[in-house]
Amino acid sequence: MYNGHVDINWPQNSIIYHIYPRSFKDTNGDGIGDLQGIIDKIDYLTYLGVNAVWLSPIYKSPQKDFGYDVSDYKRVDKCYGTIKKFEELAEKLHKKNIRIMMDYVPNHTSSKHPWFEKSRSSRDNTKRNWYVWRNPKKDGSPPNNWLSVFGGSAWQWDKKTKQYYLHTFDLNQPDLNWHNNDVEKHMLSVINYWLKRGADGFRVDAIYHLFKNQDFGDEPENPNYSTDSLPYYKLFHTKTYALPKTIELMRRISHLLKRSGGKFMVSEVHTGPEDLMKMYKNVDWRYFQPFNFSLIFLPWIAKTQKEYVDQYDRQIGKTYFPCYVSGNHDVKRAATRIGEKQSRNLAIMLLTLRGFSYIYSGDELAMTDTPIAKDKVMDTFELHSPGLGLGRDPQRTPMQWDTTKNAGFSTDSPWLPVNKNYKKLNVQAQMQDKKSHLNLYKKLINLKKTSPAIKEGEYIPLPMPAPNVYSYLREKGAQKVLVVVNFDNKPKKLSLGYKEARIILDSFLTREPNKKVSLVDFKLKPDEGIIFEL
Ligand code: NOJ
Repeated sequence: MYNGHVDINWPQNSIIYHIYPRSFKDTNGDGIGDLQGIIDKIDYLTYLGVNAVWLSPIYKSPQKDFGYDVSDYKRVDKCYGTIKKFEELAEKLHKKNIRIMMDYVPNHTSSKHPWFEKSRSSRDNTKRNWYVWRNPKKDGSPPNNWLSVFGGSAWQWDKKTKQYYLHTFDLNQPDLNWHNNDVEKHMLSVINYWLKRGADGFRVDAIYHLFKNQDFGDEPENPNYSTDSLPYYKLFHTKTYALPKTIELMRRISHLLKRSGGKFMVSEVHTGPEDLMKMYKNVDWRYFQPFNFSLIFLPWIAKTQKEYVDQYDRQIGKTYFPCYVSGNHDVKRAATRIGEKQSRNLAIMLLTLRGFSYIYSGDELAMTDTPIAKDKVMDTFELHSPGLGLGRDPQRTPMQWDTTKNAGFSTDSPWLPVNKNYKKLNVQAQMQDKKSHLNLYKKLINLKKTSPAIKEGEYIPLPMPAPNVYSYLREKGAQKVLVVVNFDNKPKKLSLGYKEARIILDSFLTREPNKKVSLVDFKLKPDEGIIFEL
């Protein structure tokens, strides 16, 4: 049993490094990353300076959705290691003052979970009502028009018991029935189980899908649906998404986390700022907060980003803290979305805005999406909805450590191909290059931990100093930090309203740090971001 230290509340400005364990570091030569691999790379985590890691799911799983299909919540999948190994990892991370966050997957299990195997065995099994089963319509078709996020109907016919079961994601991921109290009881025990083994918190998967309207009526069609978006958005998800009961459950979970010594949860929610505020206001926000995906999903345009952050920060106020995310295993990599130069600016914003910063492993190197040949596709999303550009394999390819075979990730064939650019783009090379993406991240992380204004100062919006240039102040006591980001690849002349300032850091790491410069008609280079102290 884990015997490390028990921490108190999470600092509201933690820097969390998201590890996709399959792709981080393989130590047993099976081409799949493992827990020992993370242990072996703890020095890298301390070099970077992050103060927490979040692991995508490591539970026992048939890996149909690479761990988001859990067949036993209280075991580690053998491809990653054992519970003992997890405890060792937690203990070693804690020694370095790094917290560890698990992924918590409550909406669905794997179809191979013994609960589901029992549930589907007969209509009167005691586990039947742990999942969502409905009769077909008279013509044998599914009970309603609900859609799976991954494509097609959310209902799957079960020949044996002659009913449909609900799966919001893959058909191998049947939805649990959270309207059943036994499900809640068992699923909350999972949280305690991992806290006892050293976890400091959780990222919660798909939480807004948990409750379904019990009238099981059709969802209305979305008249504005455009065919270039996900087929799932053909409907408005009024019966299956963000039901009020979710907030009540979040509140119960936040109480549990509080009782467990101030542990922490961040939840995956895709929703507007008003709704995110509802969560902050109704749940004990010190222990339970929603992700904010605006840096990923809003267009990369200065005005759009500025207006969003200004409004969000105003709504949130000084008491609550945003959880900004710049990338994850579900979306195209930052450097692919907006290019390497702009992804430096994204890093500046991620690490100088208020609150928590979530970094997706590999983005600190500006890793790019790797093209995957049709016959090599692994991701269930691409397999269900092929050719729409929804596949997530490209952003999940192995971490690029060095120039050796398979980028130092594995001695055997990796489960996904290593990007061909690894000879140039890797940790080892970037550690030696003073101007590298990695060095920028390292400096920004250090700044976020040491500058009082960035660590805990107020966010003060400023007028745009030039077209497509975003700037803001962070202020704490005597320290005033000015951030300026050029979203264009053209030079800009700025009217900032300040006479002079000291350069702390620029996105290309080419300007002389600590140098006092005049801010009158200051010239910003194409794609450049700068942090000044006033
Ligand atoms: C969101 C996760 O991030 C994604 O990877 C997964 O496929 C779905 N939820 C279903 O669990």
